[in-house]
Amino acid sequence: MDLTVQQPIGVFDSGVGGLTVLQELHRLMPGENLIYLGDTARVPYGTKSAETVSGYATEAAAFLLRQQVKMVVVACNTASSVALELLSRRLDVPVIGVIEPGARAALRLSCSGTVGIIGTEGTINSDAYPQAIRRFDPHIKTVCAACPLFVPLAEEGWAEHEVARLAAREYLAPLLDSGMDVLVLGCTHYPLLKPTLKMVLPSAVRMVDSAQETARCVRATLKRAGLLNPGVHSWWRFYVTDVPQRFVRVGEAFLGARLDDVQRVAL
Ligand code: DGL
Repeated sequence: MDLTVQQPIGVFDSGVGGLTVLQELHRLMPGENLIYLGDTARVPYGTKSAETVSGYATEAAAFLLRQQVKMVVVACNTASSVALELLSRRLDVPVIGVIEPGARAALRLSCSGTVGIIGTEGTINSDAYPQAIRRFDPHIKTVCAACPLFVPLAEEGWAEHEVARLAAREYLAPLLDSGMDVLVLGCTHYPLLKPTLKMVLPSAVRMVDSAQETARCVRATLKRAGLLNPGVHSWWRFYVTDVPQRFVRVGEAFLGARLDDVQRVAL
């Protein structure tokens, strides 16, 4: 398939969380046109089986391809964990997930050789981050924790609430004595909890934001393929699979910008 610079990048997530990735993509590549799909009718993905999430991801990617995108970015950590290989095999545009960029960044930053990873149940159960890290360096030790309450807390606007601090203390307690010096925020929602996590983590532990690393990987991939849009004006389009009201309300807090023109679609 002949791809052109002007074609948009397609981004999908289970809901609002992937807007943290969209924001980083725009920050790094302001010339890129972006189409975002939030599968709000079926969110959350993080508590569902790999098989179910793979089916959802396949439908979301097919929708984006119908919008003539030049690349698909799987912003959702859970979907990246279980469906990236399948999508990469099936789609004839480049597919970028959030796991490998996050894993690479963690390795770059870690001096102690122990890396912590937090994510949804689906992401942690898939073992995708430790596997990606071991592919680059088999000697690295990984310690993982699922933090299921962080997603609803972030969506509730409670990312810096005392409740979030208590939850963070519980979830991170088993990791704190591991010797980790890097913690991968392996979920779209967790960048919002950075101030809270900072209060709980020892000061020597650095946090890796998969969203930022993924944006860098997208830019490098587009550049290599001669598909980077050098323009300065760009447009965004938003699609959701449920009524848009909640997506708009919660999403504006995630994006730090207004969400106009959100359309409901069926996949
Ligand atoms: N987007 C999901 C992720 O990054 C979090 C929300 C969900 O469970 O669907 O894993």
